[in-house]
This record gives sequence, structure tokens and C-alpha cells, in this order.
Amino acid sequence: MTTGTKTTRIKEIARLRAQVKQWRIAGESIAFVPTMGNLHAGHLQLVSAAKAQADRVIVSIFVNPTQFGESEDFSSYPRTLDADIEKLESLAVDIAFVPINEEIYPTRAMTEVSISQIADNYCGAARPGHFNGVATVVSKLFNIVQPDYAFFGEKDFQQLAVIRVMVADLNTPVEIISVPTFREADGLAMSSRNGRLTEQQRKQAVKLYQSLSLAKQAVLAKQCAYTEIERQFIQLLTAQGFKPDYFSICRRHDLQAATLDDKHIIILLAARLGKTRLIDNIQLDI
Ligand code: PAF
Repeated sequence: MTTGTKTTRIKEIARLRAQVKQWRIAGESIAFVPTMGNLHAGHLQLVSAAKAQADRVIVSIFVNPTQFGESEDFSSYPRTLDADIEKLESLAVDIAFVPINEEIYPTRAMTEVSISQIADNYCGAARPGHFNGVATVVSKLFNIVQPDYAFFGEKDFQQLAVIRVMVADLNTPVEIISVPTFREADGLAMSSRNGRLTEQQRKQAVKLYQSLSLAKQAVLAKQCAYTEIERQFIQLLTAQGFKPDYFSICRRHDLQAATLDDKHIIILLAARLGKTRLIDNIQLDI
């Protein structure tokens, strides 16, 4: 593990590969944390986990255009590169890989990674094309960095599931390690999008995690069908001023609708508060 080293900013794939090659020759292991920047304490948890796992840590910061829909917030997505690098330095990250768009997408690509089933519902249905964009860029980043380990947060649980499927289906030689959602003191899941909330919305946003916690109790009590619990919570969130995309009780391993016989459950939700779309989830074992 390295401590106290300066974080090297690298923009070019060739330079990154040359450094990685040297580490490989020296027999060092490499952990990778892909991000879109605007780093918060949740990202830093991923970085700390990566540091504990491998000799070297690479963090990418790239706001990937192909995972944003036309009406989504690509252009206004917060870009805070200098502050991000300072945070990575404080954790002695070895490399911040900060490519410009043309480095990742030099030509109009003819290849895309497309994942079915696990990517079809929830955020996949609400944001058509989103997971193809995520899978394609993560696959490219894995090919560029060639890490032994890659770290993803459980807040984006469907994304994590999509990446696991992709790596298994394509035999990508990387171990995917997930890190539990990091929360604010009141329970709100940390997210770069929280910074967009007004003071009033920020107070209200905590109701998302509260509703997940209540729904978890309802599932454990098994007093009614899961579809009825989902319906009630969609109604509750709507009454509280959210515009829910989904509130779904799923099997954790394949994200299909859970039945009363399933033991390992995750409740996934996405809801808009004003212009900001927030997601969260809660896991439970019966
Ligand atoms: O979770 C994110 O920040 C992005 O979807 C990722 C994995 C960095 C791909 O752009």
C-alpha cells in the first residue's frame, strides 16, 4: 500500500498504460475506482476500500456523455476537478485518470456493450440507453486500466448488477467489489446530485430513506402482497411531493420482482424532487 505519494494526473491512455506496465513488472496489484468526479465522502469510501485491497490505486474522473439521455443533465453535471484531485491526494491515490472526451471516444464508435434483462427495468426503463452507455464506458476503462479489482457503490445497485453481469459474460479479468451506501447523518444516501437540492428539498429528501426503512418493515411483516406495498409507497411519496419513477421489491440476485418465497431482497427506488432525480435502495434478508 502507498501512503503520502502525490497523485499523478494523467490524461492520455498511452501514458497510463506505460505506468501500469511498470507496476505489473514490479508485481504490484492494481485497484480501480471509476467515477464521474464531484467526489463526496461516498466516493472516498470506495477509494479507501481500494487502497486497503491493492498496492496501487487508480481513480478515473470522466463525465461519460453516452450514459446521459438527451433531456438529461450531462452539460450541467457538476465538474470540480481541482477539488476532486485534492481529495484524492489526501488519500494518496496513485493516479487520477482524467481523459478528455476525444481520448475515450476518438471516433464515432461502431461498438457498444448492450446488456439485456438485468438492465431492462427500473433505471433502464426510465433512462433508455443509460446502461449501454455505462457498460460501454466501464468496459473501455477496464481495457485501458486492466485492474485486478474495481470498486462500485451499492447505492447504484442496478449499475453494480449490470457490471457484474457484463464482467461474467465477457470473461473480463477483474474482481468487482461493492461497497455499502454511505449516508448523511439523517440517512440520505450520498450522491453528487444532492448538491442540486434546495434547502427545503434537502430536508424533504430524507423521506426517501425513511420510506425504504418503513417498506422493509412491511416486507418483513409479510402482511400483504409486495405489489400492494409498492403501490402504497408510490402513493405516499407522491403525496409527499416526489415524482417516483419506481418503488420495487426485487430479488437481489437478478432484480426480478420478488415473491413471498424469496429470501434475499432489495427494495429499489428512484424519484424526482423538482428537477433532481434521486435513487436509493435497502437490502433485507428474510
Ligand atoms: O457511477 C458512476 O459514477 C458512473 O456510472 C461510472 C461507473 C463512473 C461510469 O461512467
